[in-house]
Amino acid sequence: MSIPIHQYDAVIVGAGLAGLAAARELKSAGKSVVVLTKLHPLRSHSGAAQGGINAAFAAEDSVELHEFDTVKGSDYLADQDAVEFMCKTAPELVRWMEKMGAVFSRNEDGTIAQRPFGGQSHPRACYAKDRTGLTLLQTMFEQTNRLGVDFLDEWYVADIVYEDGVVKGVVAYDIKTSESAIFNAKAVMFATGGYGRAFKINSNAHANTGDALSIVARHGLPLEDMEFVQFHPTGLAGTGILMSEAARGEGGKLLNSKGERFMEKYAPSKMELGPRDLVSRSITQEVLEGRGVGPDKDAVYLDMTHLGEELIMERLPELRDLAITFLGLDMVKEPIMIAATAHYSMGGVPVNIAGNVKKNAKEFVTGFYAAGECSCVSVHGANRLGANSVLEAPLFGRHVGKTIVKDLDKLKLMEINESVAEGMVSQIKRLIENNGAEKVSSLRGELQASMTENAGVFRTKESLEKQIKIIKELKERYKNIRIEDKSKVYNTDLQEAIELGHMLDFSAFIVEGGLMRNESRGAHFRNDYDSRDDKKFLKHTFAYMDKEGNIKIEYTDVSLGKFEPEARTY
Ligand code: FUM
Repeated sequence: MSIPIHQYDAVIVGAGLAGLAAARELKSAGKSVVVLTKLHPLRSHSGAAQGGINAAFAAEDSVELHEFDTVKGSDYLADQDAVEFMCKTAPELVRWMEKMGAVFSRNEDGTIAQRPFGGQSHPRACYAKDRTGLTLLQTMFEQTNRLGVDFLDEWYVADIVYEDGVVKGVVAYDIKTSESAIFNAKAVMFATGGYGRAFKINSNAHANTGDALSIVARHGLPLEDMEFVQFHPTGLAGTGILMSEAARGEGGKLLNSKGERFMEKYAPSKMELGPRDLVSRSITQEVLEGRGVGPDKDAVYLDMTHLGEELIMERLPELRDLAITFLGLDMVKEPIMIAATAHYSMGGVPVNIAGNVKKNAKEFVTGFYAAGECSCVSVHGANRLGANSVLEAPLFGRHVGKTIVKDLDKLKLMEINESVAEGMVSQIKRLIENNGAEKVSSLRGELQASMTENAGVFRTKESLEKQIKIIKELKERYKNIRIEDKSKVYNTDLQEAIELGHMLDFSAFIVEGGLMRNESRGAHFRNDYDSRDDKKFLKHTFAYMDKEGNIKIEYTDVSLGKFEPEARTY
């Protein structure tokens, strides 16, 4: 086996807003950095974010209110030191983005326009029509290219090189040719995004298979708060494609089959602009109680007809286009149909504010960093507010980039032997040669359908126990898969098989964490424990997987602060 070993100061995995912001910091400090991504950078899922990026700019708004809304929205599970850092930095971050070329929508007086979003005290989401993420992603991509950052597109990172508490690099293969390589670096940063594809109805890109989480967990490192999966209230019926919260921010109304504006019952003061966990549950409840619409009565109406064509075309053109393309419904003329859709992962790889990956509740891994949705710095706790993730990703990405620049003075390039790639090479060989009876697409479909059914908006002890059993069975059947494409060129069959292995591993964390958490908090709602239990569960879940795939759950303290936990009403 002869595998090339490339050396860099830093390797960044993922080219969304977090990865690009970090790469920019490293390159502008004169460091050698490569960004590895299984996609083209502009196809990163950050580009799918529609509605906005939060910053407290308005005179009647304040950083403290942004902090309060975020902590309350998180059902008090967010780490308040991290929230404070994020909200304080947000106005400067948005200005920075603007200076780099991001064109935001404007008010008449030329200031950046801001729209209301769920669970917030003031209109706080700065936006670029309904293409905010794409605008920011394009800006960051231009800036990193201008500086000459190395990009390796369509490379699949299969593992980290982790020895003696130190991450020394990553092992990857080129999707175009299946050729392997090792990337040896003083610092490795994961910025790989979320894992919504584990659910049948989701708003996520096909690439969001949570690979990084399982890679980390397979080394015995913890994952934090994985049971908290955000269901966005408004995914297009049937497909789950995102219909931005901006639609409700601009005045869209939710109606059931009786034409009732049902949010009056669930969030009388905030109505459609309640936080996502609450609105998703309300929609699902209406459906479960027989007031759904559509052929399967599994959706509700989102009505924007009163907003008029001019406003819709000025602020929500992408949404209109998507609803016409995928539902055949024109929101200018008629209500569209929506339902809750798996959207965002509040949990992930535990990190501190500087982005250092935690080895356990007390120690850190040397040379290993993470930011963005794959990480859990815990600014979102049990439920994220809309427009806080488009903020978190570049804000912490940039900050972690700066941290790495400083740390590089003391980090060493640790020698790597090419034998570290043996695991990946033999996995690829095994997957290609295996002639079992199971199909990847069937197992994935079963996982997604059962996760939606048993670990979705509403959960119970029974549904979660059932799902643990299903995942165990799927893992057994996974050993017996067969892929049809045996070639080395653009073997997406192979990639999907590897991704499915990851999805099975991290899904077990979601379900086991949910089963142990006998309370309802934020997006984790247990019908059998329908209220929050601060005495027992004002704690972060830290979960570890052993070599046999068994999961052990521990709890760590939440970083509390000036906002005392109180009842959460809207
Ligand atoms: O609804 C949206 O536009 C999504 C934004 C977000 O997830 O922050």
